[in-house]
Amino acid sequence: MLAFSLLAVTFAAVASALPAAKRALGPWCDNLGGGAFDNVANFTVAAYNTTGTNTNTTGAPLVLGQAGAIDGASFKVFSTFATFPYNQYPFIELVDGRLIPSGPGTSPTAINGVTAGSEVTFVASNSVDPTKSAQIWCAVADTDPAGHGTGHPYLALHGDTDSFSLCQYLSQNNVVYKAAAGNGYDFDTCYPVKLQLIY
Ligand SMILES: *[C@@H]1O[C@H](CO)[C@@H](O)[C@H](O)[C@H]1NC(C)=O
Ligand SMILES: *[C@@H]1O[C@H](CO)[C@@H](O)[C@H](O)[C@H]1NC(C)=O
Ligand SMILES: *[C@@H]1O[C@H](CO)[C@@H](O)[C@H](O)[C@H]1NC(C)=O
Repeated sequence: MLAFSLLAVTFAAVASALPAAKRALGPWCDNLGGGAFDNVANFTVAAYNTTGTNTNTTGAPLVLGQAGAIDGASFKVFSTFATFPYNQYPFIELVDGRLIPSGPGTSPTAINGVTAGSEVTFVASNSVDPTKSAQIWCAVADTDPAGHGTGHPYLALHGDTDSFSLCQYLSQNNVVYKAAAGNGYDFDTCYPVKLQLIY
C-alpha cells in the first residue's frame, strides 16, 4: 500500500515536470525542420553576406527605411542602417508567423504579402492592424552539425531562408526577395544575404 502511494506520488511529480505540449507550427514553417519556431519577442534583424565579406558574424544591421507614402500611410522597407541611419522601429517581434516592428511614437505596420522580385514592404498607418499582417515568416535555429552557421537564427520567408538579397534603390540598400531585373532597384548591385535574428 505504501509502495503504491509512493509510486503514485512519483508519477505525479514526473508528469508535472514534463513541459507543456509544443504548439504545432503554422504552415509558414513547413519544410524548415526541427529548428523552426514562429514566436520570438524583441529582436533586431541583420543581413549576413553569404558570398561577400562580413566584418562580424552578426552582419549589417537593418532598419525600416523609407519607401514613399500615400495619403494616410507610408511604406517602409528593410534597409541597411549604413544607408538609412534612422532607427524608428528598434524592436521586432515574430508572432505566429507575422513580423511586427515597433518603436516609440510610431504608427503600427503590417505586411500585405511579399512577392518574388519585390522588396519586403511594410505599410505604416494608424489604420493598420498588425494582427492582420501576412503570416509568412518563420525563424530557423542554426543547427548545422558541421558548424558552418553564424550562431544566429535565420529568418525564412515562404519557408525559404536562401532567397534574400540586398539591392541598391536610390541611396538605400534594401532587402529584396528573389531579386530580378526590372523592379525599380538596381539589379546589378544585388548580392545574396541571409536575414538573421539578433537577440
Ligand atoms: C528589447 O530589448 C532591448 C535590449 O536588447 C531593451 O533595451 C528593450 O527595452 C526591449 N524592448 C521591449 C519592448 O521589450
Ligand atoms: C557584401 O559583400 C560584397 C562583396 O564583397 C560587398 O561589396 C558588400 O559591401 C558587402 N555588404 C555588406 C553589407 O557587408
Ligand atoms: C557588425 O558589423 C557591422 C558592419 O557590417 C556593424 O555595423 C555592426 O555594428 C557590427 N556588429 C557588431 C556586434 O560588432
